Amino acid sequence: MSLVNSKKMFEQAYKNGYAIGAFNVNNMEIVQGITEACKEENAPVILQVSKGARAYANHTYLVKLVEAAVIECPDIPIVLHLDHGPDFDTCKSCIDGGFTSVMIDYSSHPLDENIEETAKVVEYAHKYGVTVEGELGTLAGIEDEVSHAVGSYTRPEDVEKFVKGTGVDSLAIAIGTSHGAYKFKPEQCTVNEKGILVPPALRFDILKEVSKRLPNFPIVLHGSSSVPQEYVKMVNENGGKMPNAIGVPEEQLREAAKLSVCKINIDSDLRLAMTGTIRKFFNEHPDKFDPREYLKPARANIKEIVRHKLRDVLGCAGKADECK
Ligand code: G3H
Ligand code: 13P
Ligand code: ZN
Repeated sequence: MSLVNSKKMFEQAYKNGYAIGAFNVNNMEIVQGITEACKEENAPVILQVSKGARAYANHTYLVKLVEAAVIECPDIPIVLHLDHGPDFDTCKSCIDGGFTSVMIDYSSHPLDENIEETAKVVEYAHKYGVTVEGELGTLAGIEDEVSHAVGSYTRPEDVEKFVKGTGVDSLAIAIGTSHGAYKFKPEQCTVNEKGILVPPALRFDILKEVSKRLPNFPIVLHGSSSVPQEYVKMVNENGGKMPNAIGVPEEQLREAAKLSVCKINIDSDLRLAMTGTIRKFFNEHPDKFDPREYLKPARANIKEIVRHKLRDVLGCAGKADECK
């Protein structure tokens, strides 16, 4: 099948209590690792491309890599999505250039400007069958090259006005997640019986209030990496330095996926798997210099972490057929 938009996926995910994984792609090995896992697990998937990814790898290379994945995985639905589109022109360029879904992220602008710019993107995108994600509230951390030291939670009282005023197909909200590998400070966490740091809970009260105001409407969570400690350890034991890297507990994401959250964005966990694996390889094989030798285990570990997300966190393994 050819690339699809996110409409059917979100309908099914909402109805059946799971979420679609939205994984960021920047090169061939990442595309392959993700889609090989999805193919084997028969899972629908969203491959997303940021402004930074387009600047790094070039729009055409990324589109062609994703198109290659579509040929290699003919039986699973795949969406090609723009992550954190900064303005109308970037969204238009992606829509014109083969994307099937875009995000317009005007969340750091005042509400009325956010509505105006988002509505403009929706009007253009819908003419081409492209679905649109908007955002309300800001995540702490780096969001599309804009750094927010402190995030601001989504205000439930704004969501109906935003969705009605824009016509968006899904809405990203801020309930305590943030981008990157340092989502919580150790002093914000409690220590459990195993000595593991447990971060503060996500604001499920906000999620539930938003969902009450927007029945049957797909919600998106950004900043949803869990920062697996085995990979943080692998990085740190092999010359890296990532002290106090902490992510969102996977059980909370599983809970969110059972509610109205239909898309969960994961990038940092794949970066960690790739970097940890390559660092370990270099440490163990200082004589090797063939990129294929270190990219192969890196790709294999991306595949395994994605498989784990599909099965144990998102709940979308085996759901490809109902999303077609
Ligand atoms: O939301 C941010 C994503 O992880 C993409 O990051 O802008 O460094 O490509 P990037
Ligand atoms: P993480 O940094 O938690 O992986 O979030 C990725 C993301 O939200 C991409 O838009
Ligand atoms: Zn994001």
